[in-house]
Amino acid sequence: MRASAQAHANIALVKYWGKRNLEWNLPLAGSLSLTLDGLTTTTTVSWNETGSDRLILDGKEATAGALDKARVVLDEIRRRANIDAFAHIESANNFPTGAGLASSASGLAALTLAAARAANFDCSPEVLSIIARRGSGSACRSIFGGFVEWLPGKQEEGNDSHAVQIFPADYWDLRVVVAVIQDRAKAVNSTTGMLHTAETSPFFQPYIDTVENDITQAKKAIADRKIKALGEIAERSALRMHASMMAADPALIYLQPNSWRVIDRVKELQMDGAECFFSADAGPNVKVFCTPQAEEELTAEIGRIEGVKKIINATVGGDARVI
Ligand code: PMV
Repeated sequence: MRASAQAHANIALVKYWGKRNLEWNLPLAGSLSLTLDGLTTTTTVSWNETGSDRLILDGKEATAGALDKARVVLDEIRRRANIDAFAHIESANNFPTGAGLASSASGLAALTLAAARAANFDCSPEVLSIIARRGSGSACRSIFGGFVEWLPGKQEEGNDSHAVQIFPADYWDLRVVVAVIQDRAKAVNSTTGMLHTAETSPFFQPYIDTVENDITQAKKAIADRKIKALGEIAERSALRMHASMMAADPALIYLQPNSWRVIDRVKELQMDGAECFFSADAGPNVKVFCTPQAEEELTAEIGRIEGVKKIINATVGGDARVI
């Protein structure tokens, strides 16, 4: 009744920001992401007859909030596998937790796979994706490697809302240079931020209305391996998401002055011909996507920017896997 699994973080190229159902954790629209090798969670789960659920995260007893998220996944596995046991979870990230680097995505995907395997619960990756989604929306995408689409689904309880792989990890060798601006946990978590944006931002629905078209266009750009076209879509998706947050009342501002320094520099480097583009999530860190040829220079250029504490280099990652 014990198993270990590894999953990678993913960064959305077309962003998920808004829920149609909180209980089942269902999105209002689809999203599209790239799974990253280099930002990895390793999780071991053992199911025990006695005790209580416990989560050790990066060597420390996790907060009640993190345990609650994990419990949503554990309850779903208990129900589906028909077991009545408590989970002891040990999880470690090789990158900063909760700082807009998608640690909840890799964490809940690794937990889902490890908990399912430890319970001897055999199911398809799509079902794993549905279970992971209950814990954290973006986690449903981390079950798959490469280029991944999260289908929003239509069903009330979301049995059709899971991720699918659109291209495998080796389809296109993209690199990601993560500019770590802040490695502390974020002040407003994504669920709270999404609900607040939906309730108070006049730009929320207009953002949602852009998503479907962006996904169609992004899939074409990926199919054609056109980084410039993909970059235009990914940058506007990120900025429109941030614009919808900033128009909330009170404003929700995740990007910091140092984030903008990185974004500015990416725009300058693009003008000089560098094949790269940026993205940013619910935190100040900026992710720069580029070709392998551009990676070295970009890493050096971005590393020099004031306020960039650290650089993490990533390549395209594979599926979540049992280890
Ligand atoms: O999966 P959550 O609830 O942590 O939300 C993720 C939201 C963003 O990272 C901002 C966008 C995305 O699609 O990953």
